[in-house]
Amino acid sequence: MSKKNSNQFNPNVLIFLCNWSGVADNDILILDKFSCTPLIQVKKIACSGSVEPARILEGFNQGNDGVLICACEEGTCHYIKGNERAKERVIKIQKILDILRIEKERLKLEYFSPSERGKFSTILTSFINQLISLGPINPGGKT
Ligand code: FES
Repeated sequence: MSKKNSNQFNPNVLIFLCNWSGVADNDILILDKFSCTPLIQVKKIACSGSVEPARILEGFNQGNDGVLICACEEGTCHYIKGNERAKERVIKIQKILDILRIEKERLKLEYFSPSERGKFSTILTSFINQLISLGPINPGGKT
């Protein structure tokens, strides 16, 4: 992964990271490799199901270009159905984003397990590249 050039759009990204998802602090060190690191916020959470819709929408309202929710693999949530609840919420919020004329791809839910080392880097890189191709968020609507 290379540093971005200074003229490139660096998206603001809010990450909700489940403590149990297996994404370790070492994985998060990948953020140091992005020149836009200060624009990425990581909020550790007890379970993806604990992220209320208002927190996600507030994340966009605060100017984040994308929100990534990192959850435990399906069937491995410590709170049994938290990640299922998160999945349902993401689908509903994506519909709200559509009404607000914000691309639904700006909100992503991904599953992780401790055995998938390196997945966080791959997913984050892919998400950031997608946000770069979408461009800065336009709360006033898609053009
Ligand atoms: S404990 Fe990780 S998603 Fe529920």
